[in-house]
Amino acid sequence: MASKEVITVFGATGAQGGSVARAILESKKFAVRAVTRDVTKSDALALRDLGAEVVKGDLDDKASVDDALKGAYGAFLVTNFWETLNKEKEAQQGKLVADTAKRLGLKHVVYSGLENVKRLTGGKLEVPHFDGKGEAEEYFWSLGIPMTSVRVAAYFENFLTAWKPEKASDGDYYILALPMGDVPMDGISVADVGAAVSSIFNSPEEFLGKAVGLSAEKLTIQQYADVLSKVLGKEVRDAKITPEAYEKLEYLAGKEVANMCLFYQMKPDQDVKLTHRLNPKVKSFSQFMSENQGAFKDL
Ligand SMILES: NC(=O)c1ccc[n+]([C@@H]2O[C@H](COP(=O)([O-])OP(=O)(O)OC[C@H]3O[C@@H](n4cnc5c(N)ncnc54)[C@H](OP(=O)(O)O)[C@@H]3O)[C@@H](O)[C@H]2O)c1
Repeated sequence: MASKEVITVFGATGAQGGSVARAILESKKFAVRAVTRDVTKSDALALRDLGAEVVKGDLDDKASVDDALKGAYGAFLVTNFWETLNKEKEAQQGKLVADTAKRLGLKHVVYSGLENVKRLTGGKLEVPHFDGKGEAEEYFWSLGIPMTSVRVAAYFENFLTAWKPEKASDGDYYILALPMGDVPMDGISVADVGAAVSSIFNSPEEFLGKAVGLSAEKLTIQQYADVLSKVLGKEVRDAKITPEAYEKLEYLAGKEVANMCLFYQMKPDQDVKLTHRLNPKVKSFSQFMSENQGAFKDL
């Protein structure tokens, strides 16, 4: 039997890349080359146990990106803004993969991009963790690389950590603070991204040259709060916070998230129907929360 063609997966030890690597392995059409800076970490060893080739590589090191992509049919790329908080660096990592993919003649790159909000809004809004990815995505297109861009909606997992409901100061209830007004916000469990990306790799003729917004469903903040109330058995309310008030919160990325919500209010293209076709098992927020109640045992 001929050996399988290889897809190189960057970020394979992380949430998105890990989900993608596992789904490609499960689908059995392609072999996976998983890239990490530390091949001894447990997430890397777990991928090896599942059948992936695990290689050492660093997105800041040209020679190792070259090695990681050599001989590959395709690649999945996610870059991690939150490690450096530097959009120039993130754009540079994307562009290095683009240049290398072009030179080596890869047949299909799936890039986890996002919109260049600064350019799209004429400089009115800046969302650095979107803008750097948007810049890299534009660079990929400009080189004519056979690519699909996936734009992943807000992870449902954020509600277990940074966006966890907080106790209200004036009563026996909890508040959910995200400045979305009454506009629904797209969401998806990052664990469900992998199967959608694997489907894209399995149907290049349909998805090459396209941008796909991955979203399980669109809910208003009050609807997210209603699901949380039901699952947790405690009242959760939309705090109805304004972007201006959100910016001032003592939180790592107040302005960044406030501007992201203002951009989300402009309703970027996220395709719930297509996401369900790409991954028929994609979970609703309600299913996701039912499976993750344990994260709230201290609430
Ligand atoms: N949270 C959300 O709602 C959301 C929604 C859409 C998009 N995103 C985007 O998702 C990205 C983060 O992805 P994630 O959630 O999968 O993060 P994660 O779980 O923290 O994983 C980060 C991955 O990036 C790899 N990595 C970081 N720097 C690297 C480098 N220099 N060279 C090679 N690999 C490197 C890490 O690999 P090693 O450490 O093993 O080398 C790790 O596998 C962010 O850029 C964020 O903007 C997030």
